[in-house]
Parts: sequence; C-alpha cells; structure tokens
Amino acid sequence: MSNDLVIRDLRANIGDKEILKGVNLTVRQGTIHAIMGPNGSGKSTLSHIIAGHPSYEVTGGEIIYKGQNILELEPDERSHLGLFLAFQYPVAVPGVTVANFLRAAMNAHRAEEGRDPKETAIPVAQFRKLMREGMKVLEMDEGFARRYLNEGFSGGEKKRLEILQMTMLKPSMAVMDETDSGLDIDALKVVSQGVNALMNPDMGVLVITHYQRLLNYIKPNFVSVMMEGRIVRDGGPELALELEERGYDWIREEVNA
Ligand SMILES: Nc1ncnc2c1ncn2[C@@H]1O[C@H](COP(=O)(O)OP(=O)(O)OP(=O)(O)O)[C@@H](O)[C@H]1O
Ligand SMILES: [Mg+2]
Repeated sequence: MSNDLVIRDLRANIGDKEILKGVNLTVRQGTIHAIMGPNGSGKSTLSHIIAGHPSYEVTGGEIIYKGQNILELEPDERSHLGLFLAFQYPVAVPGVTVANFLRAAMNAHRAEEGRDPKETAIPVAQFRKLMREGMKVLEMDEGFARRYLNEGFSGGEKKRLEILQMTMLKPSMAVMDETDSGLDIDALKVVSQGVNALMNPDMGVLVITHYQRLLNYIKPNFVSVMMEGRIVRDGGPELALELEERGYDWIREEVNA
C-alpha cells in the first residue's frame, strides 16, 4: 500500500465564504512537494484542514492517507497515522518546558489502545539522548530544553522547535506552512538540513512557501501553484524559479482565459 496523501476535490468554507473550491493534489511518498501561491489563495487553509482545525467547514471532497479518509479522524488520530503538522502547537504554555512538551508528545504517539501508558512511555535516558542528538543537528543551545514552551521564543527558535519535534516523532508525512518565515539565512540552512536529514523513501513532505529561496535548501520534487482556492498548475522545481522571475500574473491570465 502506498503512503501517498491524496486530496480529491476538497471544498471548504469559513462562514459563508467558500475558500477551497475543489483542491486536487497528491503528495507522493518519498517526495517533497511544494505549494506556492499568492496571499489569500487558501494555502494555510488547506494545511489547517489537513491538521483537523475546527474553524473550517469541509463541504466536499476527501483526503485519503493510509487507506483512510482523514477528514473523519480526530487530530490525534491523524497524528497516530504518522501525519505531522509543523504549526501544531504555536501557543505559549507557561509552566511546561520544551523537554516536558517533547516527551509528552512522544509518549502520546507511543501510547496504544488498551495498554498502560507507563509501559509504552519512552525511557527517560533514551528520550534525553534523542533530544540531545536532535538539538545538535539543529544547532540549538542545551539550555533551550529547560525553557517554557514558546514563551518569548524568537521566530527562528519556534521553527527550530517544530523541526526538533519532527525529528523526534519521525512522521511519515509532514506538512509545513511557511517554514521560511522569520528565519535568518543561517537558521534557514540549519532548519532545512534538519528536514533533509529526516527525509527517506517512506516519507512525504508538503511544504508551503512564498519564496523560491527556501527551495534552494529543501529541494522539491514537485511544485504546485494554488490560486483562488484551487491548484491551477503543477510542475517540477523549475516552476518555482519561473514564479520567482515572472510573478503570478501570467498564470492568472492563463487560468482566466
Ligand atoms: N478565520 C477566518 N475568517 C475569515 N476569513 C478567513 C479566515 N481564515 C482564512 N480566511 C480567508 O481565507 C482566504 C485564504 O486564506 P489563507 O490563510 O488560507 O491564505 P494563504 O494562501 O495561506 O495566504 P498567505 O500567503 O497570505 O499566507 C483569505 O481570503 C482569508 O482572508
Ligand atoms: Mg498562509
């Protein structure tokens, strides 16, 4: 069975407004797929719906992953299937350290129905080793693990934490929205290295970005363009370069023609 993420004719509203108007997209196992598109075209809406965000009303279509329509699953069930959404926990949680949070996330992942969570929990020493290794790859200071979750984190620190979480959970399909926003050039390289190090033939990545720059580091196999709630063009990495050079108007004209 393939582990492709298949989105078919996905439609969604916020209130009375139709935001996604029939999205068709397949993220193949073993590939990095980038979505680009103008502001307000529905990219973040799509990633929120994949994550199971409750604000959106899905009015049609399906998202198939590992043989299931994930729209019928709770967010934690999606995560158990191996889906990872890079902005899952953007809020500050005073009193919870980064280490506590990462361990809780791992243990939630390892939990199995009908088993005592104590039996499935990761041993502390093993957890610490994994965390240290991940932090090293991402060039994070060890003291970071003791800080409270997202409290006063810089944009770059939040992104690093997301990638660290991903490194530890080892998802089979990751969705990352605007991974480049707020990263300086060095951080961009480090974060990209983290993603590239995780990549393997069983894993798929959907990366949403505005800038071709990110794609110099996280090299996509496919690039799709979203406009007004639809995927209007699919191509390879050269499409991102073309967009950088020519903007979106030429595609808009072709779509409206
Ligand atoms: N909670 C909301 N309430 C009202 N409108 C919303 C809400 N969330 C999104 N929208 C609207 O849905 C449309 C798509 O927004 P979305 O955030 O998905 O776009 P995007 O492609 O991610 O844009 P950007 O490139 O600026 O991040 C926009 O017109 C936006 O105003
Ligand atoms: Mg967005």
